[in-house]
Amino acid sequence: MKRKKLKKEVLLIIILSLTIIIIGIIILLTRNTGSKEYYSKEAIQVIKENKLSDVYKSDYSKTLDKMLQSNNFNIEYIEEYINIEYLNIDGFINNINTYLKIGYNAQEINNIFKLSEKNQSKLLKLAKKDFSKYIDIKNFNIDNLDRYDDYLKKTEKDIQTVVTYVNINLDKEFYTDSTLVENSNDLTVIVNKYHHVDKEFVPKDLVTLFDTTRGAKMVRPAAEAYKLFIEAAKEDGITLESTTAYRSYSFQNTLYTNYVAQDGVEAADTYSARPGSSEHQLGLAVDLNDPNVIGARLDEKDYQWVLKNSYKYGFIVRYTEAGVPITGYMEEPWHIRYLGVELATKVYESGLTYEEYYDLYMMEY
Ligand code: DAL
Ligand code: ZN
Repeated sequence: MKRKKLKKEVLLIIILSLTIIIIGIIILLTRNTGSKEYYSKEAIQVIKENKLSDVYKSDYSKTLDKMLQSNNFNIEYIEEYINIEYLNIDGFINNINTYLKIGYNAQEINNIFKLSEKNQSKLLKLAKKDFSKYIDIKNFNIDNLDRYDDYLKKTEKDIQTVVTYVNINLDKEFYTDSTLVENSNDLTVIVNKYHHVDKEFVPKDLVTLFDTTRGAKMVRPAAEAYKLFIEAAKEDGITLESTTAYRSYSFQNTLYTNYVAQDGVEAADTYSARPGSSEHQLGLAVDLNDPNVIGARLDEKDYQWVLKNSYKYGFIVRYTEAGVPITGYMEEPWHIRYLGVELATKVYESGLTYEEYYDLYMMEY
C-alpha cells in the first residue's frame, strides 16, 4: 500500500515538473520568435552611458538603434530619430543628421526618402524646402520647385500636369530658353521650341527615300521603316508619298524667313520651326502627301489611317490638335516622326505628346 502511494507521488511530481518545463519552453519560444525587436548591446551601452531611460519606455526604433551604434548619434535629435522610418539604403544613417541640421523634422525626412536619389542628394546641399505637395509626383525635380509653385498660382491645372508642363518649360515663352541637345544622332532625341541642334549638325547615314522624286532623305532606319509604312498604306487603299524629309539648317532658315516675311513671326511660329529647332534637320521626320487629294496634303480618311497605323512602323503623328498648347504648332496631320516601333507604340498608347511622354517616362530626375 505504502509503495503504491509513493509511486503515485513520484508520478505527480514528474507530471508537475514536465508541465513547468513545457510552459517555460513555450514562454522562451514566444519571446524569441515574436516580432518585438530589442536594442542591440552596443545601443544599450550608449543608452546607459547617456542615461537615456526614456528610450526604454518608447517602442523599438531601428533608426535610433542604428544611430546609437554609429558615430553620428546626436542626443539633440533623439526624438526625431525615433520617428524616422528605418530604410536599408546607402547613406541613410549618414544623411539623417544633415537633413536634421538643415531643419527638416522626422516627418519631412520620411518624405525626403520617398524622392528619387538625385533629388535626395540635391536636398542635402540646399536650404530647407517645402516640397510636400510633390512627394508622390514621379517626375518631380527639386531644381524646378520654385517654378512649380509659381505656375500653380497661375493655373487651375493639377499638380502632376504642372510638374510635367514646367519640366517641359511651358512656364516660359517659346524659344526664350532653348538648350542645345547633346544627342543629336539619337533616334529618340527631342527637338522643339526649347531644344535645338547645332547649325552645323547633319545626321549620320542619310539615305534617299524609295519613293522620292525630289531627293528626300532620312536616316537609314527611318527610311527603311518609311517604305514599310507606305506599302502598308497602299495595301489598305491609302496612297501616300513623301514631300520633304531631311532639311538642312540653311534650308529651314530660308523656309522660316520666307514664312515670316509672308505672315509675320507670330503666325510663322505656329506652323514652321525656326532653324535648328526642326525635326526635319534630324532626318527623322517626313511630310506626307496624297497625290489624289487636291488643295490639301491629306484628306480625313488618310489622316485617320496615319493616326491609327503609323506607330506600327515606328512613327508618331507629332503635331496633333490636342498637342497644340504643348508643341506650340498647329495640327499637322502630314508630319510624322520616327521613333522606332517600340517607343512609337508606347507614345501612341499613352495618348500623350512626345514632350509629355519624354518627360514622364524617359527623363530621370
Ligand atoms: N512644320 C514643322 C513644325 C517644322 O517646320 O519642323
Ligand atoms: Zn514636317
